[in-house]
Amino acid sequence: MSFQPTMIDYDETNRVFHLHNGLVSYALGVAPGGYLTHLYFGRAVRRYHGTGQEHHMSTSFSPLPAGQGADVFGLNDLPLEYPGSGFGDYRVPAHEVVQPDGTAIADLRYQSHRITAGKPALPGLPATYATDDSDAETLTVVLGDPVNGTEVALAYTIFRDRAVITRSVVVTNRDSRPKAIRKAASASLDFTAPGFELIHLSGSYAKERHLVRERLTQETRILDSKRGASSHYQNPTFALVAPGTTEHAGAAYGFGLVYSGNHECVIEQNDRQQVRVMAGINPAGFAWNLAPGASFQTPEVILTYTDQGLNGLSATWHRLINDRLIRGRYRHHDRPIVINNWEATYFDFDEAKILAIVAAAKRLGVEAFVLDDGWFGHRDDDRSSLGDWVTHAQKLPAGLAHLAQVIHQQGMQFGLWFEPEMISEDSELFAAHPDYRLAIPGRAGSAGRHQFTLDFSRADVRQAVLDQMCAVLDHTQVDFIKWDMNRNMSEVFSAALPAYAQGEVTHRYMLGLYDMLERLTTRYPEILFEGCSGGGGRFDLGMLAYTSQIWTSDDTDAVSRLKIQYGTSLFYPLSTISAHVSAVPNHQFQRVTSMALRGAVASSGVLGYELDATKLTESEQAAVREQIVFYQAHRRLLQYGRLTRLLSPFEGGDTAWQISDDRGLEAVVVYARPLAEEAPAVIRLRLFGLDANRDYAVLGQRVGGDELMGEGLLVPLPLSQDYAGVQVYLKAVTDDE
Ligand code: DGJ
Repeated sequence: MSFQPTMIDYDETNRVFHLHNGLVSYALGVAPGGYLTHLYFGRAVRRYHGTGQEHHMSTSFSPLPAGQGADVFGLNDLPLEYPGSGFGDYRVPAHEVVQPDGTAIADLRYQSHRITAGKPALPGLPATYATDDSDAETLTVVLGDPVNGTEVALAYTIFRDRAVITRSVVVTNRDSRPKAIRKAASASLDFTAPGFELIHLSGSYAKERHLVRERLTQETRILDSKRGASSHYQNPTFALVAPGTTEHAGAAYGFGLVYSGNHECVIEQNDRQQVRVMAGINPAGFAWNLAPGASFQTPEVILTYTDQGLNGLSATWHRLINDRLIRGRYRHHDRPIVINNWEATYFDFDEAKILAIVAAAKRLGVEAFVLDDGWFGHRDDDRSSLGDWVTHAQKLPAGLAHLAQVIHQQGMQFGLWFEPEMISEDSELFAAHPDYRLAIPGRAGSAGRHQFTLDFSRADVRQAVLDQMCAVLDHTQVDFIKWDMNRNMSEVFSAALPAYAQGEVTHRYMLGLYDMLERLTTRYPEILFEGCSGGGGRFDLGMLAYTSQIWTSDDTDAVSRLKIQYGTSLFYPLSTISAHVSAVPNHQFQRVTSMALRGAVASSGVLGYELDATKLTESEQAAVREQIVFYQAHRRLLQYGRLTRLLSPFEGGDTAWQISDDRGLEAVVVYARPLAEEAPAVIRLRLFGLDANRDYAVLGQRVGGDELMGEGLLVPLPLSQDYAGVQVYLKAVTDDE
């Protein structure tokens, strides 16, 4: 029997496609002349009746489409699904391909479409996936410019039971002459969004993903990275929200690019308050050659809609990432509590010191030890040995395998740090292969943290690193890999590519990185990979397809972490947010925060420790033991529970969130007040999503779910004390309790 779509309708009379699943609707249509227009994206409708294109009649100073006769519509305010350029749409184009005649204009019109079951994989690129053919349906609309032979296939997938649409594009050269893609956005859509506000996650090293909210005006906003990584500075996720949208209510659209390299997200509001939203590979420095018959696959963009405010947006993203992006053994899997020696020792360690930390950590209940930077080559500081993945003979004379064995004998797992994409000038790899790094011949090359980026666009370079990593992993019992990356690219040039192909290097690098991660995660399915890039410099959807969790920031100060984790949680689930309790005074700010605050913040994610366990006082040890016992008892909730943000650190000093199970029968509430004040307000925190008909055991009392959601939880904050943090657990009681 042929496939009968249930989530994608095509109305042949009006030439309208409607993707719907009871949670979300997305409609697009073919306008006169074959223009593929955006019609609607938002709250689910049963059947899409509107066509609406006549409302977009141009009154503005722009030409009418050629061959359409007078008074049809002007392209400058026709809502389009994938705008070309050069024909009177003066907004930002999605597509620019340089033709043999030197032009880069494209007039893309509808050619054909097909609807298929399931969701095809994107060759070489990470993407969300369908579990089987009934889980999703995909519409592919083919556009083309018949004059220059460029074909663009737009893929739209709708998942069952999720307010999610994904989009990606394949550009094919149907001409007999070669061309070069200058820009190929993954998705673009134009919608009417008067008064909408933009929310994005901006920051810096050790200050990642701070939440910025601003009203759109008639302007073009670009959120991007040109660093060869998604970056600390601008995350490739953002939201558009209706005026007045809060954490708990209001319309919110979420957008995220599944890519870890140079990205460009464009939000352009025109004179009629229409908003064009676009995301894809950054065109800066990008040029991809397309031989006759060749195709180019763009990364995927995820689009979501909710009318339940920013917490509703997060719930959709958290579920999607946990269920349909993270793969392998660690999908929905408990994450261990690790201790990492970076802030404990930096480069200054030997086996005895490590084993002392391991023994002390074991006594506290920690489950895994991660050996950080400095275990290889002759790396005693950050000036050498990247590229030489052989054990540092002076620090670990008995070998890495021996260390791993002893740690396992103590009942703990063993994790290891790698920085596979980098090379130090002072390394054997560099001496043998100086051309393995990205560098422009004849130029000195700029070091970052005394290191250079390996040319991961090259299969031979990747193989050289992979072989070394496998030699370690095949002989050492490694349960966890921290994959770090500590500089951004410069002098992007590959010694293995001809001059005309240098514009391909950054994207080829990303394909190479994904290939390497795919091979390693396939070969070592039991290993849990943690992503890292100088903290959270590559915290993105692309990496999460391989590394199931990511080190959130090198800033481990609990007060700074409130903002970093709050912002990160807008899109990324708790199971991905690696967070460690570190020593005081804190190494970044010298701040001396309470153990209670450090524990509450680090437990709101994947808990770990970043300190020398041998140096803790008796009372600190007791506190850590208590944190671990609590975390182990509620690990599922704290890693996979539903997060509801209650009080934003971006709006005031105090911060609060609630993590509940799906049915609202138990929850952990976190409240943080960094600075004490005279006559502090009494805090009643209204909770969400509990069962109004049940009573809850909380703080030794029995309180109704309706009371907790109405009157609120009376938060037991210590008075007159800086860095106060409380963590309250509540659980529904049965009638006989
Ligand atoms: C940056 C990471 O974020 C740190 O945790 C640590 O692994 C260092 N690199 C080691 O060089």
